[in-house]
Amino acid sequence: MMAALLIASYANLGQAHVHALETFDTKPVLADLNDLRALNIPVLAKDEYVEVGYAVITPVMQQRLQERAHKVGKCGGFEDLSQDMGLMSLGFDHMLTSMADMKAKEELYSRAPFRALALMAEPKIQTALNEVSEENLRSYVQWLSAFPNRTATSAQPNYHVTEMKTRLEAMLAGGSIPYQIEEIPHKSTKQNTLHVRLVGKDRPNEIIVLGGHLDSINQSWGGGKTAPGADDNASGSANLIEALRILLAQPQPQRTIDIFWYAAEENGLLGSAEIAKSYKAANADVIAVLQLDMTLFPGSGEFVIGSMNDFTSAWLRDYLKAMNDTYLKAKIVDDKCGYGCSDHASWNRQGYPALMPFEATFRGSNKNIHSAKDVVSPESNFKHSMLYTKIALVMAMDLGNSTARQPY
Ligand code: BES
Ligand code: ZN
Repeated sequence: MMAALLIASYANLGQAHVHALETFDTKPVLADLNDLRALNIPVLAKDEYVEVGYAVITPVMQQRLQERAHKVGKCGGFEDLSQDMGLMSLGFDHMLTSMADMKAKEELYSRAPFRALALMAEPKIQTALNEVSEENLRSYVQWLSAFPNRTATSAQPNYHVTEMKTRLEAMLAGGSIPYQIEEIPHKSTKQNTLHVRLVGKDRPNEIIVLGGHLDSINQSWGGGKTAPGADDNASGSANLIEALRILLAQPQPQRTIDIFWYAAEENGLLGSAEIAKSYKAANADVIAVLQLDMTLFPGSGEFVIGSMNDFTSAWLRDYLKAMNDTYLKAKIVDDKCGYGCSDHASWNRQGYPALMPFEATFRGSNKNIHSAKDVVSPESNFKHSMLYTKIALVMAMDLGNSTARQPY
């Protein structure tokens, strides 16, 4: 309601000053409140607590926001909400309120005395982690990055999705865990999300989500149009295939494991946004969400993992550190994207605890993404990437067989 009033008053006040041409291509966005203020962009609804503002921006404002974001090392600078009619129809107040709720939960956790998390080394888990194969990861990434593109707006947006479904079906048929596999269609994109469910034995309604986006994009001007997306995000997709392969040789987990290869992340987190909303609408008990997006380029050093601390849960970030001490023996560095940079943000917006372990710090990340240069190269490090399959395995085998959940 308040947002609607603010929008109406902006329309009245703003028109005299806004160039007629500019009014055509406006976009609703969420952006850093400080950026919006620094650029004198009218803020229509805001949350001071999480420092996020809602604005309707013109192409000129968009350019200024992007320039400013690039200067401070952010990628996009804002989140485009124009595609996301479902989210918009809920109202901006609702969206900003649930983000504030999330922030409040996080603060509660940070002050609580139950933080110390330690994992006991379990031989079964250790053995499973030893089965992660560098060569399998390489071959999955080679295979996925050899499609000309995996772009949601391409002529055949589901060509690779269906090919991959066929491959996974063969894998699943060889295991002994009850499963479902489906292509999930969307309203906001023609591309489908690929979903595999390993049904939980004891507490099937408690869900561990493991995900990454399968789509790729080429955003460079002119030039070639291939979008190999080897790092972004054949790598995270391959980590999930390898985790699935190993999970299928384990006993049926107590909790349900939902694995998603999301559609149209590159077009504004479209697939994951619809799925997270539908889970929330069904009141699904999602215990944890893992997002694997870019795991192949060790830009901050081999075995250095960037743990993104925005749009994620402090409980799961502590859990990552605990599993690292017990199993991974890598180096975890806290960092942030500064905006909802991948599908974990979709789940986090619905109030679910998310984790995003990333290939490097934000600054150390691969600069060849979103171009024809994002291919398997001598800089690709599959040993480094193996860590992220291990994270998925620990979440499935440890959390998936436990009663632990985010304290509240
Ligand atoms: N993998 C990237 C996100 C990313 C890039 C994280 C560089 C850290 C460093 C993801 O696929 C992506 O491109 N996200 C978009 C945002 C999205 C809302 C369209 C981006 O970062 O611009
Ligand atoms: Zn991307």
